[in-house]
Amino acid sequence: MSFTKPLRGPSVDWPDGEPYEDEPRGTLKSGKEAEIFLLERRFATSGPRLLAHKRYRPRYPGKDELREKGFSNSTSYRGDAIYKAGWNLRTRDRRAIEAGNRSRYGHELAAQLWPMQEWTMLRRAWEAGVTVPYPVERTEDGFLMTFVGDDEAAAPKLAQARLSPAELESAWEQMAEALRTLTRAGLVHADLSAYNLLWWEGRLVVIDLPQAVEFTTNTDAFELLHRDVANVGEWFARRGVEVDVEGLYAEMVSVAWLG
Ligand SMILES: Nc1ncnc2c1ncn2[C@@H]1O[C@H](COP(=O)(O)OP(=O)(O)OP(=O)(O)O)[C@@H](O)[C@H]1O
Ligand SMILES: [Mg+2]
Repeated sequence: MSFTKPLRGPSVDWPDGEPYEDEPRGTLKSGKEAEIFLLERRFATSGPRLLAHKRYRPRYPGKDELREKGFSNSTSYRGDAIYKAGWNLRTRDRRAIEAGNRSRYGHELAAQLWPMQEWTMLRRAWEAGVTVPYPVERTEDGFLMTFVGDDEAAAPKLAQARLSPAELESAWEQMAEALRTLTRAGLVHADLSAYNLLWWEGRLVVIDLPQAVEFTTNTDAFELLHRDVANVGEWFARRGVEVDVEGLYAEMVSVAWLG
């Protein structure tokens, strides 16, 4: 698979190369291992844009470090080896990661790898044409992406948005299309749910991809794909959308094999 192809994500008029100033606008959400900060990037001529800065918390914070870096206090970290199967690591690093909680080195390494992994997966999804936030740039402990929402409010998670029956139908169609595009790109989101989808102005936006895996490097990819399809499929079915989970999964399997 080549990643040097021209980008063909959902069109975005991002003013690359234009001078700007960044203005922090506070914490947006505090998640399990990362926090989302809001940032206003004021471009010299094209005006302000809102960005979401996803930052992963340090794993072994020193005294006051979390506060100094602007994080809130809660910590909890994922250790699911299943997602890491395809990661391209040196032997020492792989051993350290597999040792999980037992080694500080493994912990620190994992802390750096998750944001890198998510950045890579977000870029690949965007390049493939999936409706995800536009990946703007990597930062020390995370990355910047376009903010989904406006000056007044952030886009609600699908789970919290109030959709009409027609909007639900459209959201499910968009979901199936996003699954097709991701699958064709060789990727499985692996944590797909109504909590990792945003709803904004009639568009379904896929977020939160650190645990995404590849068919070619992860032997659990098909199982994870089935779980994704079932998770979101059942969510839509409970809300009255006509959904055929096994049919859609079968279609994805053939897309994965045949493109
Ligand atoms: N680009 C974005 N635009 C607007 N809101 C966003 C964006 N990215 C994330 N969010 C908000 O921040 C929340 C947490 O983001 P994300 O799911 O990526 O992180 P997480 O660490 O997995 O958090 P959680 O444990 O809550 O799932 C999202 O549910 C969403 O409400
Ligand atoms: Mg999430």
